[in-house]
Amino acid sequence: MPDSPLALEERIARAPGDFRILTGDRPTGALHLGHYFGTLQNRVRLQDLGVETFLVIADYQVITDRDLAGDLPGHVREILLDQLAAGIDPERTTFFAHSAVPALNQLLLPLLSLISVPELNRNPTVKAETAATGGRAMTGLMLTYPVHQAADILFCGANLVPVGKDQLAHLEVTRVLARRFNERYSPTTPLLGEPEALVGATPTLLGVDGEKMSKSRGNAIELRATADQTAAQLKRAKTDSLRHITYDPEARPEVSNLVLLAALCLGESPEEVAELVGDGGSAVLKKMTTEAVNDYFAPLRARRAALGADTGVLGEILARGNAAANEVAEETLDAVRVAMNMSYT
Ligand code: TRP
Repeated sequence: MPDSPLALEERIARAPGDFRILTGDRPTGALHLGHYFGTLQNRVRLQDLGVETFLVIADYQVITDRDLAGDLPGHVREILLDQLAAGIDPERTTFFAHSAVPALNQLLLPLLSLISVPELNRNPTVKAETAATGGRAMTGLMLTYPVHQAADILFCGANLVPVGKDQLAHLEVTRVLARRFNERYSPTTPLLGEPEALVGATPTLLGVDGEKMSKSRGNAIELRATADQTAAQLKRAKTDSLRHITYDPEARPEVSNLVLLAALCLGESPEEVAELVGDGGSAVLKKMTTEAVNDYFAPLRARRAALGADTGVLGEILARGNAAANEVAEETLDAVRVAMNMSYT
């Protein structure tokens, strides 16, 4: 039985040095508030507890579901800026891009031999993501990206992966692949460790239309948005016609989402925020949410602007991270070659 999230949190707090995290993002554009409250804030918290972190910029994953990756250098720059501004410390965190770490990508080959096509076809997240591409035929890269994610995690020996519930199936793929590799090639001393999932506690933020927050839907509030852009986006947010504001995500998803957003920024419970607005209706709720978001993100946005003005620093951070990731990946790949009896010199 895996540890409950609470027990795992206690182990992390007691011995943060025993853990290494791997997580990351696809560079499809600037990050938004959904990313911030869903994962970024948690990354910073774990870093500040003293856990070492590897952050992948998953550029090869961008082309799982589209032909053109868009302005990749621009997107990479935006997500680096977002993470640094949010408080990720490049001295304690290794940022790297898939495409810059050949040994990581090579690890995909032995891992692919350890999983069957029917198993790949059964992955619920891959199915859901393919359904969202509107009838497009699934690419081989999409089908196998959970294995690529396993390579991301296993190359650097990460033993902790913060995930949303929808990603649990992927982590299970990683665990199964590590186990199969060890059974086949390294039965006496397991070479690859099985990572644990740290399931996030924050409820999912929706976009201003009440659907999942995503850049492509145009319903997202970006971290880099100005105060005015934030206000305009929240002004058009969907609500309902009931004047009295309550927190009831099931029955009133749009209103409750605004309440939740204000609550996250104010550090209060959604129930308290709903009560505060009371009979003020949507107008008061939107005003309160806008002020809460803009106050909360003002320091982050100021840091982001300052960092963005320094043209060289992002490239240096990524070059340093890529070099560190390559070193670890080559070490792992060498050990894998030896275990597989593929070391000929
Ligand atoms: N798929 C993740 C995303 O789209 C990014 C990612 C790549 C990742 N490799 C990973 C996350 C390994 C966790 C573990 O955001």
